[in-house]
Amino acid sequence: MTLRSVVLGTGHYLPDRVIENSWFEERLDTTDEWIRARTGIERRHFAAEGQATSDMGIRAARAALDKAGLRPDDIDGIILATSTPDHTFPASATMIQHGLGMTHGFAYDVQAVCAGFVFALANGDAMIRSGMARRVLVIGSETFSRILDWSDRGTCVLFGDGAGAVVLEGQEGAGASEDRGILASDLNSDGQYRDLLYVDGGVSTTGTAGQLRMQGNLVFRHAVEKLAKTAHTALDKAGLTTADVDWLVPHQANARIITATAQKMGLSMDKVVLTVADHGNTSAASIPLALSVADAQGRFRPGDVIVTEAIGGGLSWGSVVLRW
Ligand code: UT7
Repeated sequence: MTLRSVVLGTGHYLPDRVIENSWFEERLDTTDEWIRARTGIERRHFAAEGQATSDMGIRAARAALDKAGLRPDDIDGIILATSTPDHTFPASATMIQHGLGMTHGFAYDVQAVCAGFVFALANGDAMIRSGMARRVLVIGSETFSRILDWSDRGTCVLFGDGAGAVVLEGQEGAGASEDRGILASDLNSDGQYRDLLYVDGGVSTTGTAGQLRMQGNLVFRHAVEKLAKTAHTALDKAGLTTADVDWLVPHQANARIITATAQKMGLSMDKVVLTVADHGNTSAASIPLALSVADAQGRFRPGDVIVTEAIGGGLSWGSVVLRW
């Protein structure tokens, strides 16, 4: 028998304030047409003044717990993927823990930027399989609107705020690819590319939070090259092929990257969950948001094979394969 991390529930939260592409037309040398054609983004949500990453994470976590039919007491720990924490420390996961009324278990943040949720999911799975926890809340929550340079049309039109969460539970499996739950992961980082996508501030350097900087077209090339590859690697480890894939739930940065990755994997677009038009790029929140939205729409069936993949600053990239 093998322990598998099964998804018991998903949830998400999007702030009320919706920003259409036209909002940027009034402020920058850009057009709705350019943004749609180059990225597939039509709108995004921005957090309200005073609304922090943990506030959104709490809402997403509560929704996921409700869906799973569980209470905070039933959870052994919280892993939050974020690059936009409330404070430098403590971990924003502890704010979420407190917000949920929990005084037990662990709570910590994982920082792998847009790949953060994939890293956190693999981390939660490893804790469950090693017996350190039975039920883990894995959350992605981001307020990228707080680190954008509003004069840089190449970046500020791309990002949005939001949060998504999943509840993982350890269940016995046969150790075969037919098992429910997380079947395999593949994680990678290569710091030689750190200057392609970074924030130009930090505690031990400038003492400021900084603003996002990106060489978009170079990141684009890495994404198209690396995402299908990491998905293939994880599928291989799981003993599956792309023919077994029912759903691709990719990081939502750019519809063109997603289409190219699906093409490379030989998947038709009706197997791809796309939320980038309505959410923009919400970094570590994008995959749990997409999972939760598709779940709420009833798109996943028990036994479906789902592949998630993401790339972001670092560069860091990876993939998780799971059976619903
Ligand atoms: O989530 C983390 C990982 N991040 C990503 O995956 C993002 C990856 N990159 C991308 O999605 C794309 O590279 C972008 C959407 C950021 C940019 O699209 P692109 O097709 O790579 O455009 P580009 O950067 O090569 O720029 C093409 C042109 C440039 O003008 P010139 O030099 O050709 O005259 C830009 O200045 O588009 C211009 N441009 C814009 N024009 C209108 C850049 N941003 C804008 C804008 N509106 N907002």
